[in-house]
Amino acid sequence: MTKAQIQRIHHSWRLLKAIDPALVGDVFYSRLFFLHPKLRGMFPKKMEEQHEKLIDMLSYMVARLDQPEQLLPEIREMGKRHQGYGVKSEHYGMVADALLWTLERGLGADWTPETAEAWKACYTLIADNMLDKG
Ligand code: HEM
Repeated sequence: MTKAQIQRIHHSWRLLKAIDPALVGDVFYSRLFFLHPKLRGMFPKKMEEQHEKLIDMLSYMVARLDQPEQLLPEIREMGKRHQGYGVKSEHYGMVADALLWTLERGLGADWTPETAEAWKACYTLIADNMLDKG
C-alpha cells in the first residue's frame, strides 16, 4: 500500500468510527448474512461481542498499516485461528463485498474512487496474509 492510501484509510476510518461502531458492525453482518445466509451458522447466536471484536481488530490493523513487520505476523496468526473456525478461502470475497458495501454506505460522499481503491488494497493485504499468501 502507498503512503497516500494509508492516509486515506486512516481518514475514512476516523469518519466511520464517528458513527456508532456497534451500528457499523451490525450493518456489516446484516449485509453479509443477507447475501450469504449459510454463513450465519458459523457465528454465535448473540452477535454484539462479535461486532465489537471485528471493529476493534480493524481499528488495530488500520492503526498499524505503516508497521507491516509487526502487523503481518499477527494477521497470519489470526488467519490460522480462522481456519479453526471453518473459514475457507472463498469466504474472504464474501466478507470483502459486505465490508466495502458498509464502508461505502457509511462514508457517503467521502467514498471516492481513491478511497475505494485504498480499502480494496487494505483488504487484499489482510486477506492474503490471513490465507498465508502475503
Ligand atoms: C478482514 C478480515 C477479517 C477480520 C479482521 C476478522 C476478525 C475477526 C476477529 C477479531 C475475530 C475474533 C476471534 C479472533 O481474533 O480469532 C473473528 C472471529 C471469527 N471470524 Fe473473522 N475476521 C475476518 C474474516 C473472516 C471471514 C472471511 C470469515 C468467514 C465467514 C470470518 C468468520 C469468523 C468466525 C466464524 C469467527 C468466530 C466466531 C465465534 O465463534 O466466536 N472472519 N474474526
